[in-house]
Amino acid sequence: MTDKEALLIQKAYEEVKKHQNKDVHDPYRLTYHLMPPVGLLNDPNGLIQYKGVYHVFYQWNPFETAHGAKFWGHYTSRDMVHWQEEPIALAPSEWYERNGCYSGSAVESDGKLYLFYTGNVKRDDGSRETYQCIAVSSDGIHFEKHGPVLRLPGDYTAHFRDPKVWKKADRWYMIVGAQTLDEKGTAVLFTSMDLYHWEEAGRIAGSGMNGMDDFGYMWECPDLIHVNGKDILLVSPQGLEPSGYLYHNLFQSGYFIGELDYETLTFQHGPFRELDRGFDFYAPQTFTDEWGRTILYGWMGITDETESYQPTIANHWVHALTIPRELVVLNGKVYQRPVDELKKLRKDKIVVENKGKQIESNGVSAELLLNFVKAGSFQISFRNEAYLYFDSDKQEVYLQRRDLKTGALETRTCKQASVSKLQIFMDHSSLEIFVNEGEEVFTTRYFPNPNDDTIIFHGEAEFEWTKWNLG
Ligand code: FRU
Repeated sequence: MTDKEALLIQKAYEEVKKHQNKDVHDPYRLTYHLMPPVGLLNDPNGLIQYKGVYHVFYQWNPFETAHGAKFWGHYTSRDMVHWQEEPIALAPSEWYERNGCYSGSAVESDGKLYLFYTGNVKRDDGSRETYQCIAVSSDGIHFEKHGPVLRLPGDYTAHFRDPKVWKKADRWYMIVGAQTLDEKGTAVLFTSMDLYHWEEAGRIAGSGMNGMDDFGYMWECPDLIHVNGKDILLVSPQGLEPSGYLYHNLFQSGYFIGELDYETLTFQHGPFRELDRGFDFYAPQTFTDEWGRTILYGWMGITDETESYQPTIANHWVHALTIPRELVVLNGKVYQRPVDELKKLRKDKIVVENKGKQIESNGVSAELLLNFVKAGSFQISFRNEAYLYFDSDKQEVYLQRRDLKTGALETRTCKQASVSKLQIFMDHSSLEIFVNEGEEVFTTRYFPNPNDDTIIFHGEAEFEWTKWNLG
């Protein structure tokens, strides 16, 4: 480690110490989600199960509750339920990452853990440089930087970042999020035999390609995975206009299902689908664990103008990651399901059968499982601050919460013919709502009155309701 890096890390820990006890009484601190100790968290990075241990790294600005020179924070776990905070993995100390160790991924090779990330440099005139870099570890905790292994190719602007690396047969592949010189979002594929020398295979998908119209000016955080026999490109496009039920957040996250031809290095794919229907979901990343499950974490937040209105900022922290979700492909769609391990959090089980039309319960950090026996419209109020509706005439599911800036109710909607099952994860300031076995998911932060823990259901539908407190 260079002196400069050691100094930066020391400063970050001073910042953590300074605010350490301030969040003790923060009613919005989450119980079972990963959060930054202080400062701003954004994308999940470097997800991997390495030597049996789950590693989650994350984009982290320890100095401010705003974006800036990003570090990689680090948590480990043996079960994705109990987490340990590890030493800072990467600090932006070198010339090629001066303005941030931006997002990236992890792979294991010859028993070592390799982190790939983007070294972000902002010049004085506002222009950028971008370097795809490697850091290596033998214990999964301490990393040695090996510097840039890929420079910016000629066909793209400096919005070129977020390398995701994987292996197939004896070859390595890297997908990078990029912007073409005429400002179209795209995903670019590279190959390598040794992780250090990379050759461009070209764009495999993008705005204006494969019969797609304009589809954003930049694609961030691409991820190419193989699930249930399909190749799936996850990507977070920027610059899509709202259209019907779709694209109402400032930026989107979604996927294309298709087939990557490893001979021609081309990707045939179907339409883009959004991964989440809520207000706060961006830049997801996946990994495959030892049991072959594909598991996704997302950033339970998004960069937009309401970000700076989150009340946790008063306590010097902002944002969190989602719970881990297993991905399954069914009927041409990606379903997301909370991983089984989360059942370990369950306690105080209550089962209620709804006989009347209204049920009142309570919970702050809780899981609700609703199995419907009779279909029909309904409404669920979460702590009088967020509301989930199903309208059986319109066949719509929608979620409302208060706009963090204006206080006005805002809505996100998706089409769904019926609702037969709901699995809902509530935490002190978050909701993750899995509709029909994870066919649709609504992820949102919300900031209810801390003294209000009421959950109220009313409507035509009949169901069995199981509730656990989670902790
Ligand atoms: C997505 C993103 C990435 C970038 C990182 C910087 O949220 O903008 O493209 O690498 O965040 O923190």
